[in-house]
Amino acid sequence: MEALIGQEYEDLRESVRAIAEEKIAPFAHDVDAQSRYPKEAHDALIATNLFAAHIPDLYGGEGADALATVIIIEEIARVCGSSSLIPAVNKLGSVPVILAGTEEQKAHYLPLLAKGGGFSYCLSESEAGSDAAAMKTRAVKNGENWVLTGSKKWISNAGESAFYTVLASTDPTLGAKGITAFVVEATDHGISFGAPERKMGFKGSPTREVYLDNVEIPDSRRLGAVGEGFAIAMRTLDHTRITIAAQALGIAQGAFDVANKYAHERSQFKHPLFDFQSIQFMLADMAMNIAAARTLTYSAAVKSERGEKDLTFYSAASKCFASDVAMRVTTDAVQILGGYGYVSDYPVERMMRDAKLTQIYEGTNQIQRIVMARHLDDL
Ligand code: CAA
Repeated sequence: MEALIGQEYEDLRESVRAIAEEKIAPFAHDVDAQSRYPKEAHDALIATNLFAAHIPDLYGGEGADALATVIIIEEIARVCGSSSLIPAVNKLGSVPVILAGTEEQKAHYLPLLAKGGGFSYCLSESEAGSDAAAMKTRAVKNGENWVLTGSKKWISNAGESAFYTVLASTDPTLGAKGITAFVVEATDHGISFGAPERKMGFKGSPTREVYLDNVEIPDSRRLGAVGEGFAIAMRTLDHTRITIAAQALGIAQGAFDVANKYAHERSQFKHPLFDFQSIQFMLADMAMNIAAARTLTYSAAVKSERGEKDLTFYSAASKCFASDVAMRVTTDAVQILGGYGYVSDYPVERMMRDAKLTQIYEGTNQIQRIVMARHLDDL
């Protein structure tokens, strides 16, 4: 990889891996078992400026480019998927500000995010998941203000984040063209949160509904033009589906590392498992698929940084491919560990449960294929 991405990124990987191993990995099992927010990771990420490293240094961040952000998320996910959602969600919530915010909005929100005020992204609703443009949440103009009413579903880190990018319909007769983006703050009157969902995986990351009950906010909280919200939301996903690919990659690498080590340490029939060709072939396939997912994900990150025209295709492709790889690799890791893989003494069963979500959120892998198919001519 060093030849492909350069020494500075490998140095970054090494330093994030050390932080992840020391400050995040020791709590990953407990975070999952207790379904509790990874407070230790949250604090460690703030202390090391990795909480929202993608924020430009002009606004108090680390100025990590898209590839650096991918490597940060990958290395955190290698030990704890839930913790890796902290920087991933913070990027997702704030990219609309970066893409469409005014200078005042950027100067206000981005430093607050870099300092530890998380930023969630509110697109989905109970009846508008894959069909995001079917949202019912309304924003109605009231003088110089907007009044938001409705509810958003499956919102990652809801309740923990200080800020929420909310997509709402300002003109239901216009469909996707009648959607506008706003920033809602956790302290706004009328915002509240549902009970945390009880999930298969990513148990440390709270997923809750966000209720908006006549939340009145000034027009200065609007991101971009009225009616531009859906395009902003989609452009955002072009940049952030890559972070889900990074997460999937990290989970797959974590599971591979455990399975590879186990195969060398565990003996059956008087031989280490690794002596058996059936196990060698499984590990070889796992490593091959991880390498391919990494190459595709890093390529997508470079395209995100450069704003290349085939970004939409690559972003969807990296998320789709890496998450399918993560599902297969984690399932095989459980298989290699046998009974030990199926119980929680080893992390691979957690990784297998976590991997499943990467095939679903930020657009199911079926939606990614729709996106890819619509952008074949960009290649
Ligand atoms: N960039 C800019 N504009 C875009 C765009 C993009 N990538 N994609 C679409 N648009 C624009 C289109 O150009 C179109 O405008 P025009 O008519 O002027 O061309 C408008 O938006 C509507 O686009 P479509 O007709 O393509 O819209 P659609 O209704 O067919 O939906 C879709 C397209 C790809 C299926 C979209 O609904 C989608 O991505 N669905 C999945 C939703 C999703 O990913 N949700 C994730 C939630 S966030 C999450 O999960 C995060 C988490 O928890 C951590």
